[in-house]
Amino acid sequence: MVKRDITLRLPKKLLVILGILLLLVLLSFLIPSPSLQQELTVSPANYSVSLVSAQQAYDVIIDEGGYSFVEDAVTSVYAYNEQIPGPLLRGMVGETITVQVQNNLDEPTTIHWHGLILDNVQDGVPQVTQDPILPGESFTYEVELRNPGLYWYHSHVEAHKQVESGLYGPLLITEDDEEDSGTILMIDDVLLGDDDEFRSFDLGVMHGRFGNYLLVNGEQHPTIHMESNRLRLVNPANARSFTLSFGVPFTVIGMDIGLSEEYTETLLTIHPGERYDIFLDAEEGDELALQYVTGRGNYPLATLFVGETVARPSHSFALPFSPEELLEKEPDLTADLAGFMGGHRGFTWAINRKYYPETTEIFTVQKGELTKMRITNTQGQPHPMHLHGQRFIVLARNGELAEHFGWKDTVMVGNRETVDIVFIPEEQGDWVFHCHILEHAEAGMLSVVRVE
Ligand code: C2O
Ligand code: CU
Repeated sequence: MVKRDITLRLPKKLLVILGILLLLVLLSFLIPSPSLQQELTVSPANYSVSLVSAQQAYDVIIDEGGYSFVEDAVTSVYAYNEQIPGPLLRGMVGETITVQVQNNLDEPTTIHWHGLILDNVQDGVPQVTQDPILPGESFTYEVELRNPGLYWYHSHVEAHKQVESGLYGPLLITEDDEEDSGTILMIDDVLLGDDDEFRSFDLGVMHGRFGNYLLVNGEQHPTIHMESNRLRLVNPANARSFTLSFGVPFTVIGMDIGLSEEYTETLLTIHPGERYDIFLDAEEGDELALQYVTGRGNYPLATLFVGETVARPSHSFALPFSPEELLEKEPDLTADLAGFMGGHRGFTWAINRKYYPETTEIFTVQKGELTKMRITNTQGQPHPMHLHGQRFIVLARNGELAEHFGWKDTVMVGNRETVDIVFIPEEQGDWVFHCHILEHAEAGMLSVVRVE
């Protein structure tokens, strides 16, 4: 009896299953499939500062999409407002802008305002200053614009992956809305595989992730029509330092934060995280080759057409202390940079042999008190070190007074080099101090400067 029952029921079950399958197939035509997201096309950025005016509020929407780094190929990327790099955010000194961030990714993220001195809770560091913005959630940043200059913003969650994938953009702060501000160049590289997708995001790479495609504002050797003879450069690359030639000499007028001492050069080296503000010694209409200069030859980065030549803003740079006197001062803090075998990854990058997040080094300093920090690289791998929420002066390298002064937030500490920096903490809170080779930071080379 039982057997007969079963044989009778089976075809009915099959019918029910077939029915459900048919329904699912029909439904799939009605419900947008999640893979549609992949079809969102991300475009390269076009920064014409003169076309973007200062605003008080911005929306930044983060999506996955497809982007062509290489002609006829599409790479899966992450993007701010469907463009790579992200939109130019612009505001005026003394204002606070509101940036509402919507995270449409399947993973958490945050935005860090690289170089800005602001309220600690707006700094965008997961677990240190805020909870990450979860998938589908939004967060509103109140971003205070204290000092003029070109800054940049980027993800601080798995930064080695998210920044490489497209989550970075420029932020310009000027004294007034109309002033000529130069042309922004974000000089980057990406590492793509034969399938044109990002190669795996490996933290084990000793020197950090070096790309196989060189990009200026998200494109391979673009032609850029400059607004004047002024350029503002950013290096958002995970690990690569760029030495640049413009084919003509240039005058540096600003470093990371605002205007600096002026000096003239023919080559410019820009490390990950850094910015420079320069005036080219060129005439309107000149066609210049921007090249990446290496020991093994030069690589073309972009063709530049110089705009109207303008006078450099007249300014004088004054320090609030005497560098000569400070050269003798004992350091208040010391940070030894090294990698060692150990920790759960097998190889760990560390500051004072402590590594984030397990054994994080915490330096304690007082707001308003001049602080001298000695950073010593005990090995051969260079580390561009970035301090959040402060501006510092690079005082000396290997005990020799620095050649040119300016306010900075990122400093390269080269092969077995000792660098002294000086800063006066302006805001209380926990500010991270880390290597801007993003693979090093994510593999432990991150500490906290606690301002009391
Ligand atoms: Cu641009 Cu904590 O980094
Ligand atoms: Cu490093």
